[in-house]
Amino acid sequence: MSDIDSNKPFSQACENNRQPIYEVLKDTFANKKTILEIGSGTGQHAVYMAPRMNHLQWQTSDLSENVEGINRWINDEKVVNVLRPLEIDIEKHWPNTDLLKNFDGLYTANTCHIMPWETVRKFFVGLKGMEEGSRLAIYGPFKYQGQFTSESNERFEHWLKAQEAHRGIRDFEAIAEEANKSGFELLKDHNMPANNQLLIWQKR
Ligand SMILES: C[S@@+](CC[C@H](N)C(=O)[O-])C[C@H]1O[C@@H](n2cnc3c(N)ncnc32)[C@H](O)[C@@H]1O
Repeated sequence: MSDIDSNKPFSQACENNRQPIYEVLKDTFANKKTILEIGSGTGQHAVYMAPRMNHLQWQTSDLSENVEGINRWINDEKVVNVLRPLEIDIEKHWPNTDLLKNFDGLYTANTCHIMPWETVRKFFVGLKGMEEGSRLAIYGPFKYQGQFTSESNERFEHWLKAQEAHRGIRDFEAIAEEANKSGFELLKDHNMPANNQLLIWQKR
């Protein structure tokens, strides 16, 4: 009988997007040693990315309700460079400069359109605590000059707002303003499959 936990939380989107994201992150984080992931979700990105970048350690985190699921993925994949999840709620546990000084990279996927905009701003304010040269990678859908990049993203926006009014696809320009205020400059805006972006920033 298999020891694999087949009832653990599962995201098909993560299965679909993990390889294209990895193709970017392997260069972005080539010289980085410690990555903090905010909003790890199921943990599928962490257990896929980290073993392919075995020069670094990948710290998972999420709200308390997702900690168990992430642990179940770590147990099954038996990866050595993924650290068990920290409970981090940006609304409650942020900024955390003492924690952040341990990391030279930060990754977050599909969180900016889930967190309320004030929480997204708080997230960026906290990033002021990262050291010069640190890299920030943000994956997800964004609008440009108020325009959706596709009809499917516009439909997604309606679906998000029907769930929670504070959710919504963010304007790239507003994200860039917050990142710049926290000392990050944009290195590259990657167009990704399924009308997503992967934004790569570096701390000045
Ligand atoms: C759409 S899921 C994305 C999960 C995963 N990163 C992925 O791409 O599949 C959004 C994640 O953001 C997390 N999240 C929501 N609000 C948060 C907050 N205030 N602080 C930290 N994480 C939060 C959720 O718990 C969830 O795991």
